[in-house]
Amino acid sequence: MENRSQWGTRLGFLLAAMGSAIGLGNIWRFPATAYESGGGAFFLPYLFALLTAGIPLLIMEYTIGHKFRGSAPRSYSRISKGMEWVGWWQVAISFVISTYYPIIIAWAIMYAYFSFGTQWGGDTTTFFVADYLQLADPGTFGAMVPKVLFPLLAVWVVVLFFLGRGIKKGIEVANKIFIPTLVVIFLIIVVRAVTLPGAIDGLDAFFAPDWTKITDGKVWVAAYGQIFFSLSIAFAIMITYSSYLPKKSDITNNAFITGFANSSFELLAGIGVFAALGFMAAQTDQAVSEVVAGGVGLAFMVFPEIISQMPASGLFGFLFFASLVLAGLSSMISISETYIAGVQEKFNVSRGKAVTLGGGLAAIISLFFANQGGLNLLDTVDHFINSYGVALAGLFEVVAIAWFAKSLKDFQNHANEVSDIKLGTWWRVCLGFITPIVLGYMMLQNLKSELT
Ligand code: PFF
Ligand code: NA
Repeated sequence: MENRSQWGTRLGFLLAAMGSAIGLGNIWRFPATAYESGGGAFFLPYLFALLTAGIPLLIMEYTIGHKFRGSAPRSYSRISKGMEWVGWWQVAISFVISTYYPIIIAWAIMYAYFSFGTQWGGDTTTFFVADYLQLADPGTFGAMVPKVLFPLLAVWVVVLFFLGRGIKKGIEVANKIFIPTLVVIFLIIVVRAVTLPGAIDGLDAFFAPDWTKITDGKVWVAAYGQIFFSLSIAFAIMITYSSYLPKKSDITNNAFITGFANSSFELLAGIGVFAALGFMAAQTDQAVSEVVAGGVGLAFMVFPEIISQMPASGLFGFLFFASLVLAGLSSMISISETYIAGVQEKFNVSRGKAVTLGGGLAAIISLFFANQGGLNLLDTVDHFINSYGVALAGLFEVVAIAWFAKSLKDFQNHANEVSDIKLGTWWRVCLGFITPIVLGYMMLQNLKSELT
């Protein structure tokens, strides 16, 4: 415990935490979610969720990691013996995500290459589903798709390489390269997007507030859901990362910086994506509402079409998919570190062994998503993880800490000792009441929509 690995610098930790937070959730999840949930009016529930749940939970997770200096399972067991399983539950979710997240990064790598000469042709949807993924017979688990398999292996090599090198020389170095590069590339893309003809219509559609949505419970659930996912909360990640903080480290200020940086990136992505959608709508004589998409469809079907219509399409296609790759890799490293740290501590093995065992197993399982049935499987797993896994993990977490271990007061003192910004009663109210109520409500809503 004494010679636990540490981050080299405060900036190193912050970049790693931002690297985990900034991911596909910012680029393809936030813009569509905000648009569907009231556009400009969504910012109210969104900010509310950020301030009442996102940042308070981030502060709590940083405090746990900093105070107990262990992987998530170990940290929870140090809070109270009976709570170790909460950590394993979160680690398990991260493990599952790490078996399909790299598939998407692999696709993005291939699409960065396809951008040159816009190899997806005129019908981008058919290209993606039929030509690229060869989903003609989605039931079969037969042939691997080599164009997915090779980039997938490349992703694993990069991820396990950095993880194997440890905290300071591996994870920190990776994020110091990836995140500044990502920000520069993304700024270039956004500036280009907002200067395209039609961009303003896209932005209009994005920011136009629909205040009637504000009274819809689903919109509030969407806001909290977006914040949890986007900040990588309740995935064991932030506890693991903060367990490598030196003793003299600010907690609260670091959490605010991470939270605002992630939201800024999200807003930037919303602007870039909707400017591009506005351009596409103008080119194809459609309304913006007809071209809006999120997720896989946005990135691999709509964006290729937009890119084809842009001047210098090869360059901008490459930059767009490179940004997905960079955002994805830094998140992927963070998810995988949760179980590597967990296994390393539980079974007292070296980092190298934990990386080989944990990462190797995840890599092998990921092959199941790399074949023809992959997309459907990925969708199903992703749906259950997002609707139940994460909400439950967050609920277990706050209830265990606020109500069973009754640790909030203790944590507040701990954070206040080392931080510039001092926590008050509001922080305990957010975690003891608001967050568990919202998460409970969210679970019920998700269950309800499953049944109807
Ligand atoms: N926070 C990341 C995003 O917004 O894209 C997503 C994410 C990363 C979720 C890692 C879960 C995770 F374990
Ligand atoms: Na995010």
